[in-house]
Amino acid sequence: MSEIDRVLSLARAEIRALKAYEHAQWRPELERLHANESPWPPISSSDGLARHYYPEPQPTALVAAMAAYYGVDADQILLGRGSDEGIDLVTRAFCRAGEDSVIVCPPTFGMYAVAAAIQGARTLSIPLREHFQLDVPAIVAALQASCANTPKLVWLCSPNNPTGNRLEPSDIRQVIEAARGRSVVIVDEAYAEFDATPSWIASLAQHPHLIVLRTLSKAHGLAGLRIGAVVAHRALVQLLRKIIPPYALPCDSARWGTIAMQPPALAVTRERIDCLRRERERVRVALSSSPLLTRVWPSEANFLLVDAYDGGLVLDRLAAVGLIVRDFRGKSGLGESIRITIGTPEQNDRIIRSLS
Ligand SMILES: Cc1ncc(COP(=O)(O)O)c(C=O)c1O
Repeated sequence: MSEIDRVLSLARAEIRALKAYEHAQWRPELERLHANESPWPPISSSDGLARHYYPEPQPTALVAAMAAYYGVDADQILLGRGSDEGIDLVTRAFCRAGEDSVIVCPPTFGMYAVAAAIQGARTLSIPLREHFQLDVPAIVAALQASCANTPKLVWLCSPNNPTGNRLEPSDIRQVIEAARGRSVVIVDEAYAEFDATPSWIASLAQHPHLIVLRTLSKAHGLAGLRIGAVVAHRALVQLLRKIIPPYALPCDSARWGTIAMQPPALAVTRERIDCLRRERERVRVALSSSPLLTRVWPSEANFLLVDAYDGGLVLDRLAAVGLIVRDFRGKSGLGESIRITIGTPEQNDRIIRSLS
């Protein structure tokens, strides 16, 4: 059996056998009377976007632009409604309700466990150890424990949300090696643009059981348009394509996403990333001497995790200057922890003033 066939054999048999829904053909050269749409555009729309028609299921121009940006072939990309949809699709494709399990490493992004719970899969929690790094021996032991019950998925997030740190590449490599032939490893790189290390996308060719999730919601500033990408072996993309709803991405997302991937927009994005990285360092240094905080964790993302003497006081102080931040008090592996997104320089000034 080839390596990719072994990976595919980990997926649910009924999904492998599923014949995908045949959506209305995409034939832009013909006038559409094949999808029961309205022949008229919405009353208030004047920008030429055909919102009265179902959108192109996987918009060719956007897929091509994102493939070029990530350095992969177009058939290695599946676009969905944010990387949240990628998390859901991967979980549904691989996990049988009541039988399969996934590994998550808290504190980390909550959607991996939520998607597993919705699908009826068990979550095996292997907490991050000191400095929020992977507990590699525990993950390897779980992967090798018993062939019948091997967790189907291993969820890794780097830079990790909400802690902000990059997972050690050598640790991720060990997990990928240990999972070969047994499980699928997903590296969620939602914040990759803020980090200096290379993307795991470069390793996809050597590891068909690796999936990388990317998004235009963070560095590219398009959270409201919900554009995420599963980047993987083309056979895995084909498998997930069977279960994504037929018209996942609205036409507005396709248009604005494609513009965001063109050189002029990418140049602005790069400047903004540089700005946010400089601001992250400025805020980190300033908050390091805050009398309200016990610790400011290093970050490779567009946010900082801080530990407070009294997290409630920090929330109150920031609310008093009009800012809402994320309360992580008491979450698995965290203490009086608050996550602060890096904003504009003016917003960051307010953070610094109110916590100094
Ligand atoms: C680590 C991580 N992954 C995925 C997501 C989902 O992002 P989106 O669905 O907007 O692509 C987020 C959002 O905060 C995140 O922090």
